[in-house]
Amino acid sequence: MNIPEIVSQLTLEEKAGLCSGGDFWHTKAVERLGIPAMMVCDGPHGLRKQEQTGDHMGINDSIKAVCFPAGCATASSFDRDLVRRMGEALGRECQAEHVAVLLGPAVNIKRSPLCGRNFEYYSEDPYVASETAKAFIQGVQSQNVGTSIKHFYANNQEHRRMSSNSQLDARTAREIYLAAFEGAIREAKPWTVMCSYNRINGTYAANSKDALTGILRDEWGFDGFVVSDWAAVSDRTTALEAGLDLEMPTSFGFRDQQIVQAVKEGRLSEDVLDLAVTRVLTILDRHLSGRDEAAVFDRDADHELAREIASQCMVLLKNDAHILPLSKDKKAAFIGAFAESPRFQGGGSSHINAHKTESALDMARSKGYDVTYAKGYDPETDTIDEKLLEEAVLAAKNADTAVVFAGLPDSFESEGFDRTHMQLPESQNVLIQAVALANPNTVVVLHNGSPVEMPWISQVKGILEAYLGGQAVGGATVDILYGDVNPSGHLAETFPIRLEDNPSYLSYFGEGDCTRYSEGVFVGYRCYASRKMNVLFPFGHGLSYTTFEITDLRTDRSAYGEKDTVKISVNVTNTGDRSGKEVVQLYVLPRHGGDAVLRPVLELKGYEKVTLEPGETKTVTFTLDRRAFAYFDEQKQDWTVLSGDYVLAAGNSSESLTAERTIHIDGWVPKPERITPDTIFGDIMHLDGVMEILKPYIRAFGQENESSDENAMGSSTADMLEAMLRYMPLRNIVPFGGGMYSCKDCDELVARLNAHLA
Ligand code: BGC
Repeated sequence: MNIPEIVSQLTLEEKAGLCSGGDFWHTKAVERLGIPAMMVCDGPHGLRKQEQTGDHMGINDSIKAVCFPAGCATASSFDRDLVRRMGEALGRECQAEHVAVLLGPAVNIKRSPLCGRNFEYYSEDPYVASETAKAFIQGVQSQNVGTSIKHFYANNQEHRRMSSNSQLDARTAREIYLAAFEGAIREAKPWTVMCSYNRINGTYAANSKDALTGILRDEWGFDGFVVSDWAAVSDRTTALEAGLDLEMPTSFGFRDQQIVQAVKEGRLSEDVLDLAVTRVLTILDRHLSGRDEAAVFDRDADHELAREIASQCMVLLKNDAHILPLSKDKKAAFIGAFAESPRFQGGGSSHINAHKTESALDMARSKGYDVTYAKGYDPETDTIDEKLLEEAVLAAKNADTAVVFAGLPDSFESEGFDRTHMQLPESQNVLIQAVALANPNTVVVLHNGSPVEMPWISQVKGILEAYLGGQAVGGATVDILYGDVNPSGHLAETFPIRLEDNPSYLSYFGEGDCTRYSEGVFVGYRCYASRKMNVLFPFGHGLSYTTFEITDLRTDRSAYGEKDTVKISVNVTNTGDRSGKEVVQLYVLPRHGGDAVLRPVLELKGYEKVTLEPGETKTVTFTLDRRAFAYFDEQKQDWTVLSGDYVLAAGNSSESLTAERTIHIDGWVPKPERITPDTIFGDIMHLDGVMEILKPYIRAFGQENESSDENAMGSSTADMLEAMLRYMPLRNIVPFGGGMYSCKDCDELVARLNAHLA
């Protein structure tokens, strides 16, 4: 496609038309110039191709497709290859169905357990979110199908989803909310980015030139087109100027007219329009030249892949007395409606018309296992049904093990609204407690997209977090429960004990449209760990049927310059008696002294999933660059590495770090921009050569204090003097210097210091 040539032939009206949808899912065609329409579809964990009436709420039908595990699950795999394979399968499906762009991945940070859309999102941690997204994008795009990483950005709630105003400072944005996108966009180069509905510090994401042009394109090198979330545009020309190329869905021509008018009246440069059209056509061209007419959508093969993926994502949270795996020749009672009809996906725009579903009950029985069933609760009503409860208790009593399938029904968790609490339905909590009382060997399987409170945690022996595991979740659950697959998922989010413990608790629902991200960078484990809080299950936690040891962390050196990369290796050994996979996690713990920057006590900066036979040891290596140690400095508007010590710690959860080493990095040393008489001693004493200059004055303070009443000073030690001095302005050499220094002396001292530090 000769794009400049085409652009030169398009009329103003045609150009404006190419910048918005022709219908719900297609761009417009310009037949006279041979430009076809291009189809985009939801995802992200399946293909939601609507051939008839389109909608973004999961109401109207889409073609039969394969529902893979949702984002909450895939992130827990901590397995880039696995997610890439899922992306490849989705890419093939899109090729077979002539879909140009799959609308995902969705990487928004799980700021609060309450967000109704958490099930689609990956993590509370930007590194996990970005790495998972990268693998997904690479997989889909390897098939010459585009992705649309979404929703850009600071879109972390469903409450007032189309008008809320996320108020956050630049450091929080950079380190947490933008970081979830950054690595994926820089490295995996998605064809498109979807901007979010919300406002960011007062400006709609769709209108934010800072975000859509400054950060995305100028800084990160994004070269595709930006598409609006469906109906996220409030002012078409402002958005176009900000860098929003394609408005979706169709505006029925009304907004196209606004663009035409603005150009005609000189309010909008035609160059801006040409650029947006060029971007849209570039992706169309990429799609057309990558078309694979021979691609087939093999639903049954992809179903098997979905089952494999689901089994690699589940997180074994608790396994006392090796209650799992279940013995294949003993009797189990499967209790709870989700055993017969699992909740395997969430509601809304990601809703897939699954071509088949498997329940754990059917799959266990098809394998010949001795399994009885009791419904236990009605997921539709959440009323306690005494009869169902009695049947469940009886089934539990008559079995060796009781497995309760619990979780959140659609009415509790969906796109479009937030949860108001973190509890399971009361009918399920009551059921679990009654079953656990009837049979001490009780295991709970959970289907939910985000943490739940577990008031019964001490009464059950096992807990398996199956998340929303896709249409093959039933088979995958049975694979794990009976030990054909060794669990290897780890939590990509913290399970707090109570909702009130969550760092966003006080500000989450905001005031009207205003949501202040007042916890700053202390999101998820960054807060829980820094505050040393007890949690139900920490970030990174996940058990296996075997055991592992992570030991012997080494680095290539012990001291580094700011621009050096740090090479780390660490050993992981399977110390148990069966083959398994461990997720080796690498955290950075800044230990630099001083109070220049508040930082979380630890942050995840690397992970690898490793397969190990019993007794086997492997060495895992990581390379960290300066960004892994940096924070975003608001004043410099740049990433900055502070000089000092950093602990590198590896383990298999954020609370189980078993190998560590301290390194030193020669980085930036904070110093006041200009020294004035009001500068305090403590802010400059550590700077090169400054102590030499200050010494005589400090001595004068000492004499002053020695001559004063000893009792008033208490035990006047040198340490104490130094501590008090730290917060003393330089000008106080006059009143506290025993009469030795005048105001002029102070000015001279200040001038000398400024000259020294210049
Ligand atoms: C959702 C997007 C989705 C779009 C199209 C919106 O409401 O926020 O994630 O891709 O609809 O269905």
